[in-house]
Amino acid sequence: MANNSNKKNNLNIREMLKEIRELLKEKGVFGAIMELTLRSQVWRSFFRHGLEDTPKTRMQTIISNSFLHLHPAKVKRHAPLFNYTWCMGGITFFLFLSLTINGVALMFYYHPNVNDAYWDMKDFEYQVPFGLLLRNLHRWGAHLMVITVWFHMFRVFMTGSYKPPREFNWGVGVVLLVLTLLLSFTGYLLPWDQLGFWAVTVGTNMARATPLLGHEGPFGEQLSMTAYNDIRFALLGGSLVGGNALLRAYVWHCIGIPIVISIFMIVHFWRIRKDGGISGKL
Ligand code: HEM
Repeated sequence: MANNSNKKNNLNIREMLKEIRELLKEKGVFGAIMELTLRSQVWRSFFRHGLEDTPKTRMQTIISNSFLHLHPAKVKRHAPLFNYTWCMGGITFFLFLSLTINGVALMFYYHPNVNDAYWDMKDFEYQVPFGLLLRNLHRWGAHLMVITVWFHMFRVFMTGSYKPPREFNWGVGVVLLVLTLLLSFTGYLLPWDQLGFWAVTVGTNMARATPLLGHEGPFGEQLSMTAYNDIRFALLGGSLVGGNALLRAYVWHCIGIPIVISIFMIVHFWRIRKDGGISGKL
């Protein structure tokens, strides 16, 4: 039995060597190495299609790659044109990714309590290498994201891309806009400086007038809303902007809203594909 399998192995090796000799004669050293690499099990487990440049292999390259397959295999000619989309959706997404990364860097140094928050940010700027740059990347990036998301919405409106079949994605977009503004608003309180403190004081005071849920809003009184159980109280974790409000803003800003906005972004991008890619040129 063992003798038989040894004979078989020897035969295989002899055949392989014969093949290599023929390849060397036919294609030279470089050509033979190329050919053997392309035929190898390892190469074929990575790349499941040929190398030749045809529409079919181009498409296969995209759909068989776990990163590239997130993109459509084919796009309309006008879709990547800057003067159609201004890349505003793409830039908004890029800013979100960059804010997530430099936001995590800020989290390493920040304590969400009223005694430390302000000084943590000052220390971050002046004691941590590149801290000033990182903090400003986060702050300016956040302002820019709010601006670009508005421009994106304006472009979508001007190209009529809210019309069927894209009306659902417009709705998803409205949620993304609100979440972007909430990210910006909750982040504003975190440095615990005068600007953030009073902006959030004014902003949350407006919540008193929320219909049904605010104690000064329409039907609030009928629903037994008071300053101690309404939506403003829930946002602040109390009736004043203090330590609880700072902690709540921190949790929403760093965990709650980023998770929800990521889910909506995934739906938004998936929907663009399902709606047949970017809308047609006007
Ligand atoms: C965080 C916010 C958002 C991100 C990251 C985002 C991202 C994107 C991206 C990358 C595209 C592909 C085309 C392009 O770059 O313009 C797109 C398309 C689209 N977005 Fe957004 N978007 C956001 C918010 C919004 C808002 C606020 C609206 C509207 C209320 C909206 C509605 C749409 C629609 C309808 C399309 C399809 C457009 C077309 O087919 O021409 N998006 N979005």
